[in-house]
Amino acid sequence: MGTSRSAEWYAGTGRNAFIHRAWMRRGLPSHAFDGRPHIAIANTASDLTPCNLHLDEVAEHVKRGVWEAGGVPLNLPVVSLGETQVRPTAMLWRNMAAMATEELLRANPIDGVVLLGGCDKTIPALLMAAASVDLPAVVVPGGPMLTGHFRGVPLGCGTDVWKLSEEVRAGTLTEPEFLRSESSMIRSKGHCNTMGTASTMGLLAEVLGMTLPGVAGTPAADSRLLEAAHATGSLAVEMVAADRRPSTVLSRGSFLNAVVALAALGGSTNAVVHLLAIAGRLGVELTQDDFDRTGSGVPLLVDLLPAGRFLMDDLYRAGGLHAVLREVRDLLDPQAITVTGRPLVDYLDQARIHDPEVIRPRETPLLEEAGIAVLRGNLAPDGAVIKPAAASPELLRHRGPAVVFDSVEDLHARLDDPDLDVTPDSVLVLRGCGPKGYPGMPEVANMPLPAKLLAQGVRDMVRICDGRMSGTAYGTVVLHVAPEAAAGGPLGLVRTGDIVVLDVENRRLDVEVPDEELAAREPSPAMVRAFAAPRRGWERLYVETVGQADTGADLDFLTGSSGHRVSRDSH
Ligand code: FES
Repeated sequence: MGTSRSAEWYAGTGRNAFIHRAWMRRGLPSHAFDGRPHIAIANTASDLTPCNLHLDEVAEHVKRGVWEAGGVPLNLPVVSLGETQVRPTAMLWRNMAAMATEELLRANPIDGVVLLGGCDKTIPALLMAAASVDLPAVVVPGGPMLTGHFRGVPLGCGTDVWKLSEEVRAGTLTEPEFLRSESSMIRSKGHCNTMGTASTMGLLAEVLGMTLPGVAGTPAADSRLLEAAHATGSLAVEMVAADRRPSTVLSRGSFLNAVVALAALGGSTNAVVHLLAIAGRLGVELTQDDFDRTGSGVPLLVDLLPAGRFLMDDLYRAGGLHAVLREVRDLLDPQAITVTGRPLVDYLDQARIHDPEVIRPRETPLLEEAGIAVLRGNLAPDGAVIKPAAASPELLRHRGPAVVFDSVEDLHARLDDPDLDVTPDSVLVLRGCGPKGYPGMPEVANMPLPAKLLAQGVRDMVRICDGRMSGTAYGTVVLHVAPEAAAGGPLGLVRTGDIVVLDVENRRLDVEVPDEELAAREPSPAMVRAFAAPRRGWERLYVETVGQADTGADLDFLTGSSGHRVSRDSH
């Protein structure tokens, strides 16, 4: 092996090496610079990312493992995104977090990195960054929080907020009762406890092969997470010696394994966009259609909220990720390796289902076919996705008149208008919510139902949007419509009253308007005005260069791996 990256900074007797070493001597012993690997801990702990608050503690245990294995651990705080805190939407900043982390990893004298994430966008951003820099990298997922209860009933973060707030709007729950549930929901450190995006991406990081096997899904408050963090620190040192990089671990087979797991777990639709973006950073072939082709025949085995009954703590107790993967082992690529260098499937032999209510055996799945369906048609030429498991079966084939909203603001202004011409058969269309349009592709596709229909007992309707849906949400929602309205997609040309046809079985999404008539229409002036807003800084760069949902909504100049070489020495 040639000179290590850190040795390129620190080795020798020259002035530059002197400067690099001298400024690092704040407690580091001399032997820290004797050629041993320097391991960064890319740490998304932040007071404003409450789901990741505990990662400083996790980092301390990673450090012990790095020292023990003969490396030098270095805490590296990176851009952090609190899903519930940042405005207008954390997704606007995912690519910025990925880009900034990539640059920090490349610019600094490190040989490998341990990635600490949890809240929704943090693990995707860290994996995108690591894939681009392609230094030995391993994730410690921060883990879900413990289950909180209200009036003796378990609460699912996010999911139960939507449910309870709908009950308030429907008049079946008082506002004081609703507010009393607030203090019960967040019981401990950790990320949301449903099968939302954070849980999904933590689990999929392991399925991709990017964690110490067996760690994903460990609750944040469980002492075994700290033990795993220690072992991960040691593993990172070993990975540097073995030169085991993301490009070694992440193959097409790893991504298809993640697609299988996403379906069996009933994971978040957001994983589609994130996995496409991570694959795009490596140049691994992965398309939206792979999710349908590979995932649709996979049985749904995990009964977790938002679509099911249980929570992440229950999944861990019931046997965890490995018990789920063992049931679908025949669908997994046996060649796909993990950060240990051994195949993922090697770790499944000991796994057992301890509670078949939470993890169903293959013979008695919750659904024979889960996964994500990719729809196409004159409303979504480049595709749109729906999660049939979270939808109402009777709405998966539906024909109804569109009720169109040009923006989220327009939706909120008119949705509860008693004069709104809407029936349970209507199709709610919300546009202007794609990557460019909002901008940032927020989680608004699961739009609330009109109050007057809620009062009639309606609990689901067909909804179509170019935005995303919270992983903790549910309903018959068609999302990620591409191209989005702001990029000239036909969604921008639909008018209220047009007949929309959803046919999930045949993978179609169409509007019954002749092509010539649709092409001759102008986008609504309100929508055009909203897109024309002046922009600066990151938002401007983002709007000008972001791709569409069907390719992962990454910036066009960030796709493809660029490696860890620094272009110029420091002078
Ligand atoms: Fe952080 Fe849900 S808000 S994971």
